[in-house]
Amino acid sequence: MSIAAPILLTPGPLTTSARTRQAMMVDWGSWDDRFNQLTASLCEQLLAIINGAASHHCVPLQGSGTFAVEAAIGTLVPRDGKVLVLINGAYGKRLAKICEVLGRSFSTFETAEDEPTTAADVDRLLRADAGITHVALIHCETSTGILNPLPEIAQVIQQHGKRLIIDAMSSFGALPVDAQKIPFDALIAASGKCLEGVPGMGFVFANKESLAAAAGNSHSLAMDLFDQHAYMLKTGQWRFTPPTHVVAALHEALLQYNEEGGLPARHARYAANCQALMEEMGKLGLRSFLPAAIQAPIIATFHAPKDPRYQFKEFYERVKAKGYILYPGKLTQVETFRVGCIGHVQPAEMREVVAAIGEVLREMEVLEI
Ligand SMILES: Cc1ncc(COP(=O)(O)O)c(C=O)c1O
Repeated sequence: MSIAAPILLTPGPLTTSARTRQAMMVDWGSWDDRFNQLTASLCEQLLAIINGAASHHCVPLQGSGTFAVEAAIGTLVPRDGKVLVLINGAYGKRLAKICEVLGRSFSTFETAEDEPTTAADVDRLLRADAGITHVALIHCETSTGILNPLPEIAQVIQQHGKRLIIDAMSSFGALPVDAQKIPFDALIAASGKCLEGVPGMGFVFANKESLAAAAGNSHSLAMDLFDQHAYMLKTGQWRFTPPTHVVAALHEALLQYNEEGGLPARHARYAANCQALMEEMGKLGLRSFLPAAIQAPIIATFHAPKDPRYQFKEFYERVKAKGYILYPGKLTQVETFRVGCIGHVQPAEMREVVAAIGEVLREMEVLEI
């Protein structure tokens, strides 16, 4: 822990290993065979995580996670399609905004931020509107850390013969998704989340048949995943300037992911981080916003102390001075703050950050929790 290199307890960018950062110390030519091999190896390893090689293509895309979500919707939802957007937080709302901006017809279904969408909800909504062609779902809604029941919802969508688009940005790599068991048109994630790479690229696992039928759907040149994939297939290269250092870092991060034991080990470490966090915060009297049953081991939301001496900005700065970066809350109704459980961190660091939080609350004379 140091102030110059704080530990990020945030949902991405997050704490990366020295080895991953070191991988960015080499410059790569984007036309060079070695770089093309790196990209190919990356896509192969990413597909293996979801057991998707037989059914899906991995299409990488420059930019932050939202770029990849927007590209997936723009490419895979035909212009005359209609999306049912399931919302229980800010990222669900962003999905709806993307549909609106892209001019795709959509309807929304919103539950409270501490209430998962259920398969029964989706069943009812699909029965009521035969015009819906696609359903868009956030797997782990990072604005609280709530987990939506993906397998059950996916099954209902398949029974109705509709298509599923999953924003798995903050869950991919840590929570299991098997593409042979969970049918989906697109699953979207990014480099700087549970794989512990650095931010700068997203990737979309696109169903092979759906992608093949998606020519001309996209409103955009740069965000057309059909073209991106076709060009990569033909040349082995990215269509436009690739984020070379981000690719190299993610490749190195994936080597470590596999050395650690892949998804089960990553999941187990994050679950242990989350448990240590909850235990220690509980000792300080800080209450989790979500019940344990619907809490994903990705990021946790805590109620802010009631004491008027508590101010998030001062609290944040003081915790930062002790070497830890926290995350503000994203709820409109209740005052909260968030602590990420993901990144190159262990339960020991989770206990240390809570010790720092306890010291800061004492320094601020925050008595009423
Ligand atoms: C669920 C979810 N969707 C999408 C995003 C993409 O956000 P950004 O474009 O800031 O990477 C995030 C980022 O944290 C996320 O958690």
